[in-house]
Amino acid sequence: MVDFTLSDEQKDLRELAHDFAAKEIRPVAWEYDRESTWPQEIVEKAWEVGLMNPHLPEEYGGPGLDYLSGCLLEEELAWGCSGIGTSLTCNGLALAPVALGGSEEIKRHYLGMLAEEPKLASFCLTEPDAGSDVSGMRTTAVRKGSSYVINGTKTFITNGSHADWYTVYAKTDMDAGHKGISAFVVPREAGVTVDKKEDKLGQRASDTAMVSFHDVEIPAENLLGEENKGFKLAMMTLDRTRPGVAAMAVGIGRAAMEFASDYAKERVQFGVPIAMHQAIQFMIADMATKVEAARLLVWQSGALLDQGKRNTLACSHAKRFAADSAMEIATDAVQVYGGYGFIKDYPVEKLMRDAKIMQLYEGTSQIQRLVIAREVLMPRRVTEAATA
Ligand code: CAA
Repeated sequence: MVDFTLSDEQKDLRELAHDFAAKEIRPVAWEYDRESTWPQEIVEKAWEVGLMNPHLPEEYGGPGLDYLSGCLLEEELAWGCSGIGTSLTCNGLALAPVALGGSEEIKRHYLGMLAEEPKLASFCLTEPDAGSDVSGMRTTAVRKGSSYVINGTKTFITNGSHADWYTVYAKTDMDAGHKGISAFVVPREAGVTVDKKEDKLGQRASDTAMVSFHDVEIPAENLLGEENKGFKLAMMTLDRTRPGVAAMAVGIGRAAMEFASDYAKERVQFGVPIAMHQAIQFMIADMATKVEAARLLVWQSGALLDQGKRNTLACSHAKRFAADSAMEIATDAVQVYGGYGFIKDYPVEKLMRDAKIMQLYEGTSQIQRLVIAREVLMPRRVTEAATA
């Protein structure tokens, strides 16, 4: 049976997230975008009402929500502002490898920290010369007695300037490609340096930083999972977070569609609201279909995880389609507004700028296609990876 009915708890969560987005995020979103303001107060309020860290396991003080619920929450927050939404949800990316590979003591300490206070954590995978090609990373972690010493630079790190701890991927064997990468949890006070906050095209209320590690020494117990098994941990993490990112893209698309529809009903040209013209109607209709189709892919990619099934293909479909759709919808929303759409006094140019990152972060649309093509063309190869 296929049943798209949400539970009462899921409906309540969606309503809570929507109210929060409407009251706390929307009213300041355009101002925060203009000034590139870090939304500290909103982070604290969201934590207070229980909208942060949805997948933090209950045994470490979190709500331990299912992945479909996380998607509902992320769509609503991004409907309010995807930049602020990214700031509020990015802990999920850092905490997943800890939950998957950390020792009991590490989980109690680092996951517990997120439950006790509105703290932030960042996921450090990408490097200046290693983006899509994760195996090309050059950060190293060298074992020294009961410690590891980390050296290297990570870039495009969401919440990097504000994080209290970092999940860091580094080479423990320089000659072994993806089989030489390990994952570590690194507390900020171990000596993480924030080099630069990026000045971005969109999602300007989110923090994106370059961070570096100069002889940063951490206890060997901070290794997540086994040495040289970090690549797989990173991929398993992305399988768990891409549904939520795709849900944020749905939130942007939905917001752009709503603005375009409202404007089309008000704006009069040739004696009638432009919504009466079929040229506009068809654009709105295509927006609506894309939002619906993207959401179904998102729900499927979250629901598979909740059923304990592999969702690699499903989340690449969802991320690719939702991100590309958000970009198309936001671009068409600007078109519906005509010349006004290009002006910052009107809301949709921000959404067009914000949508662009959805096709870039957590795996570009091209990387999602690569995953999809591999699974379609060589399903056996990837099925083996899933059960490894
Ligand atoms: N689950 C488990 N294992 C997986 C897997 C998955 N989803 N995907 C791959 N693997 C396994 C493979 O089976 C293989 O295993 P074996 O060693 O046992 O054979 C191994 O991992 C290597 O896999 P590939 O040969 O497929 O590796 P590749 O080098 O070709 O890379 C890739 C694959 C899909 C391109 C991957 O590198 C990738 O996803 N790149 C994009 C990275 C990305 O999304 N970066 C964004 C970082 S987060 C961010 O954006 C910052 C932020 O703060 C928001």
